[in-house]
Amino acid sequence: MKYTVKSLQETKDVAEKFSSKLKQGDIVLLNGDLGAGKTTFTQFVFSFLGVKQVVNSPTFAILKSYQGKFVLHHFDTYRISVEEAIEAGFDEVLEDKDSVIFIEWSENIKPLINRPTIIINISRIDDTTRVIDITE
Ligand SMILES: Nc1ncnc2c1ncn2[C@@H]1O[C@H](COP(=O)(O)OP(=O)(O)O)[C@@H](O)[C@H]1O
Ligand SMILES: [Mg+2]
Repeated sequence: MKYTVKSLQETKDVAEKFSSKLKQGDIVLLNGDLGAGKTTFTQFVFSFLGVKQVVNSPTFAILKSYQGKFVLHHFDTYRISVEEAIEAGFDEVLEDKDSVIFIEWSENIKPLINRPTIIINISRIDDTTRVIDITE
């Protein structure tokens, strides 16, 4: 499904629709340039799934985990190696089929992902306009 959104609110609306279909065991890969809105989209989805905490970019931590309707893991694997991802607990998280995993910049760790994924490509058109392309 491809959406052209013209504001944060419209991104939030897409995130709401998307979050209602997410199931335990799902892995979501978020692609797009820096500033496209990968973290913003994740924040909206996690919030709709009941996470009360502030969801920050996990760039430095690599992994942050939250409790909502299910356990939600948020990875940012920008410029990290497969070894570093494993050290951060990626393998264990992958085994936890009761949780949902969101991954920003998944390119480097593709070899570790052993089941189908939902892919979200976000493109920045201008300050507030984004194309959000979701492939399930
Ligand atoms: N329609 C929109 N959807 C998502 N983000 C938007 C939109 N309009 C403006 N923005 C802004 O773009 C920035 C996206 O940043 P972020 O989510 O951190 O990107 P990424 O994680 O892809 O690097 C935020 O400052 C956000 O407020
Ligand atoms: Mg980000």
